[in-house]
Amino acid sequence: MIKKIGRFTFTVITVATVSILSCANGLYKSNTDTTDSLSDKYKDLFHLGAAINEDIIMGRDSQSKNIVTSEFNSITPENSLKWMYLQPFPNKFNFGAADKYVELGKKNNMHIVGHALVWHNQLADFMKTTVSPDEFTNHVENHINTVVSRYKGEIHAWDVVNEAFNEDGSLRPSVFKKQMGDNYIEDVFKLAETADPDADLIYNDYNLYKPAKLAGVLKMVKRLQANGTKINAIGAQAHWRLNSPSLDEIEQIILHISELGVEVMFTELDITVLPNPWELVGAEVTQNFSKFEGDPKMDPYPKGLPKSVEKQLAKRYEDIFKLFVKHQDKISRVTFWGVMDKHSWLNDWPINGRTNYPLLFDRNYQPKKAYNKLINLIGN
Ligand code: XIL
Repeated sequence: MIKKIGRFTFTVITVATVSILSCANGLYKSNTDTTDSLSDKYKDLFHLGAAINEDIIMGRDSQSKNIVTSEFNSITPENSLKWMYLQPFPNKFNFGAADKYVELGKKNNMHIVGHALVWHNQLADFMKTTVSPDEFTNHVENHINTVVSRYKGEIHAWDVVNEAFNEDGSLRPSVFKKQMGDNYIEDVFKLAETADPDADLIYNDYNLYKPAKLAGVLKMVKRLQANGTKINAIGAQAHWRLNSPSLDEIEQIILHISELGVEVMFTELDITVLPNPWELVGAEVTQNFSKFEGDPKMDPYPKGLPKSVEKQLAKRYEDIFKLFVKHQDKISRVTFWGVMDKHSWLNDWPINGRTNYPLLFDRNYQPKKAYNKLINLIGN
């Protein structure tokens, strides 16, 4: 596996073989002697990853696990390293799933991502009710030291802060800002660096195609850089739609971030195919439109994706990856937010109980048209 350092450009190696996946009895099995996996194809461009849930981590979903270890060379924990699971009560840490997660990555020689140290969602309740700023700050220090030190040299990159900005580029009035002050992002990046000086440190957020929001994030990066505080990358989440953001908007994200000399990562890529007629803003997970639950207009494909939409999805992924390939010197990782459609969070967000098709593998663990487009993009 090649890890991109700084802004080195690697030559695109063209491989002419076409991938064949043998899928007897609905089981995913990659044909390893004659074909390249997706991450093999992209190995000289950027890491290719998937977010993995606890069923995969604990070995309860071996079919998804096979896909992950065959097709991807990086993993992100979908939930298992979030504060509410790791430290639900003061100084009571649960490392069971997190340890298994890291073990899986090490065993398969993968680039292992930690997600996420500081985030206002999926935070332990005690952090929301802690009153004194000093006590709150001590908990944050303890959390970062304990977690990052435990996986020092094993977790290669940390989402240090997730979703700290409003859509207008101002700092979100989160409990972290309230308790630790306006400089908290810099403070926690320093804590992470101290705990593992070799880990890559990432700021991660959604809707970075919106100029005002991106500007707020870039300003923060410049401030950290001016103060000599380590920050390696900006992660753009990439919970996108079939028609938006535009390729031009995506390209602007890449250009603006890389201009600052930090790596560009697309950290949570998935593409919803379902209707969003409301004014839905980004991927703020607390939004829930329960009034739409059970409305067939909002869930048009419960029995399968029409061929025309499947084609549209494949083309959308192809167009996006063409852009990623064009800017491979600036992009160090692309991670899908999940493995197969059935387990995607987008079946339950922002409306519960829908049937969505946002990923590269279908509900029977089979590669979709989009997968074929991406694997054939390199070498053609
Ligand atoms: C999501 C998970 O996929 C869900 O299983 C969970 O219920 C809520 O969080 N932005 C992030 C991710 O940074 O951590 C979120 O993951 C999706 C939005």
